[in-house]
Amino acid sequence: MKIGIFGGTYDPVHLGHIWTARSVKDELELNKLFMVVAADPPHKPNNDRTPGAIRYRMLDQALKNEERIFPSDVELKREGKSYTVDTVAHYKSQYRGAELFLVVGGDMLENFPQWREPARILSMAKLVAVSRPDEARDMRALADSIEAQFGGRVIISEFTGPDISSTEVRRRMRDAEPVDLLVTREIEHYMYRNALYMPERISAIKSRLAAVLNKKRLNHTMLTVLEAVKLAYCYSVDTEKARLAALLHDCIKLPNKELIRYCDEHCYDITEEERRNPYLIHARLGAVLAMEEYGVTDAEVLQAIKNHTLGRVGMSTLDKIIYVADKIEPSRDFDGVDEIREVAYRDINEAMLLVMKHSADYTVKNGRAINPSTQAVMDFLEQEMEREKNGVFAAQEDYLSDRL
Ligand SMILES: [Fe+2]
Ligand SMILES: [Fe+2]
Repeated sequence: MKIGIFGGTYDPVHLGHIWTARSVKDELELNKLFMVVAADPPHKPNNDRTPGAIRYRMLDQALKNEERIFPSDVELKREGKSYTVDTVAHYKSQYRGAELFLVVGGDMLENFPQWREPARILSMAKLVAVSRPDEARDMRALADSIEAQFGGRVIISEFTGPDISSTEVRRRMRDAEPVDLLVTREIEHYMYRNALYMPERISAIKSRLAAVLNKKRLNHTMLTVLEAVKLAYCYSVDTEKARLAALLHDCIKLPNKELIRYCDEHCYDITEEERRNPYLIHARLGAVLAMEEYGVTDAEVLQAIKNHTLGRVGMSTLDKIIYVADKIEPSRDFDGVDEIREVAYRDINEAMLLVMKHSADYTVKNGRAINPSTQAVMDFLEQEMEREKNGVFAAQEDYLSDRL
């Protein structure tokens, strides 16, 4: 029996960890590999780390479909300061007679002599070092000196881990940049649903929304944030504005009767049309509350919130992004949504048109009248598409005439 132990902070677990785990598991032909969530590693400075229970939950989700790789909370459950030697001893007693392998990042090798009881660790397990592509140190020389000093065996894994770091994932979450190529889909959704690693202002708004919106609506909101950030990044629009607008787009999405009552009680005027179709109120009122209650002063963000239900002739790319993100975020599930998702990252105008057509069909099917502005907005989008097409051709002609 071969058992692997792969400890880490996993704040959060990313694809680099998972690829490393898979590769080491195959390379060493492990029967089981345990990814152990560190509680408080003594060799790292104690910063404001995400609570262990949350890091463990993410790891558990990320490993759901992995074979023979398991999350472990053995260090989280241990009282007091947690040392690797105790973890290795735990698995040694649990799997008597098994061959143990302790997997560590190449950068850990240098510090290994300062760990608690390195000789005892090496008497129970073989050390396996995985390096990053930019690893400049001579790993074998380091491994040899550890073997000479403490005995045991140090294996340099053939696998070179990809250059992904949890620090970079956290930075992107903070700065509203996409993380979909760095973590699994489950982790991406988890981080957004829980506003992890986001600036204080954003997580504070999310907490306030949790008190107003039901769970399903809040989930939709956070996944709209995820989609809006990706779309904004794709179209070079300010991703932080997109994040804020998406976060507040449904800030007052209440059931129809409650919305009307809210407006009456707070003296917000509503039009005849809004009284007939109360769901329309939440977009306009949402923009008002974003300013009055949540302190948003950015006109572009407020416009995007206001325009997310009906659109508007002359709407900006940010407006379109919020409109489309709202309809294609990952929890949306209607006929044709996948096609729109694909179009959205290619042509935001076309995606908006598809969404508007879908909404118009839905409105008619439910016996409601299509909003009078809908046709004008659709015409506007078609003109935008046409203009862009001509713009590209004109640019190509310029390019060609320069050559001739
Ligand atoms: Fe909405
Ligand atoms: Fe929405």
